[in-house]
Amino acid sequence: MFRLNNRIALVTGGGSGIGRAVALTFASSGATVHVLDVNRESAAKTADEISRNGGNAVSHACDVTDQQEVMAVFRGIGKLDILVNSAGVSHIGKADTTSEEDFDRLYQVNVKGVYNCLFAAIPLMKENGGGAILNLGSIAAVVGLPDRFAYSMSKGAVQAMTMSVAKDYLRDNIRCNSVSPARVHTPFVDGFLAKNYPGQEQEMFQKLSQTQPIGRMAKPDEIAKLILYLCSDEASFITGNDYPIDGGFTKLNN
Ligand SMILES: NC(=O)c1ccc[n+]([C@@H]2O[C@H](COP(=O)([O-])OP(=O)(O)OC[C@H]3O[C@@H](n4cnc5c(N)ncnc54)[C@H](O)[C@@H]3O)[C@@H](O)[C@H]2O)c1
Repeated sequence: MFRLNNRIALVTGGGSGIGRAVALTFASSGATVHVLDVNRESAAKTADEISRNGGNAVSHACDVTDQQEVMAVFRGIGKLDILVNSAGVSHIGKADTTSEEDFDRLYQVNVKGVYNCLFAAIPLMKENGGGAILNLGSIAAVVGLPDRFAYSMSKGAVQAMTMSVAKDYLRDNIRCNSVSPARVHTPFVDGFLAKNYPGQEQEMFQKLSQTQPIGRMAKPDEIAKLILYLCSDEASFITGNDYPIDGGFTKLNN
């Protein structure tokens, strides 16, 4: 079940957190994985780890906000079966405390970065007779989270792009879905706590853990397993959907 033998996958943000877990999971399921990240060292580290475990991986240093850079990487790969858009950045702020610069940065990485990879990947998948695309959304797209104005904007756009692409490429045999995690314990969360709650990291970590009714944050592996399923042939009837994976956050927080 859920094998990706002979599949070529590209994972953005593959150097860390959920992207790294997806890259490792895909490789151990038989795929050749292209690990793309703006951080050259972390992309190489994930690819090395895959190779050491006997899998196939290539790393690419690439900024998803730059369409030329993205196009060069995808052209170099040539054939593509699976795209996972995991590269993303976070931000804390309300509408009147989010600077124009921060708003633009969130848009550039979380929205335009996804568009750039879709733009580059879809022609390759069409040529290839189909493919599977998985975008990392967030519960921030569907519930009102405090202090996440720009981030919520960006994840709302990811969900809308997911539906649009799923509809437009039905006849090209390209499936497109998103997953929307609540909090996942990754460097994304640790960096956010260190930056925004210096000295209170432990206390805030506990607090954030408890906001999931299940009482903890997700592990990156738990998200990767759902993504593996959605990108495998076993999910061949699934397209145009968003999958919350949230420890009960959206439905049980009452
Ligand atoms: N961690 C969570 O709690 C959580 C919850 C919901 C959704 N998400 C989403 O999951 C995705 C992955 O999050 P994570 O927790 O694994 O984060 P992370 O910070 O651990 O990893 C993100 C990776 O993206 C890379 N990246 C950032 N900007 C880039 C750019 N311009 N070009 C290429 N790569 C870039 C970073 O270098 C990093 O390796 C994000 O889209 C995030 O919004 C995370």
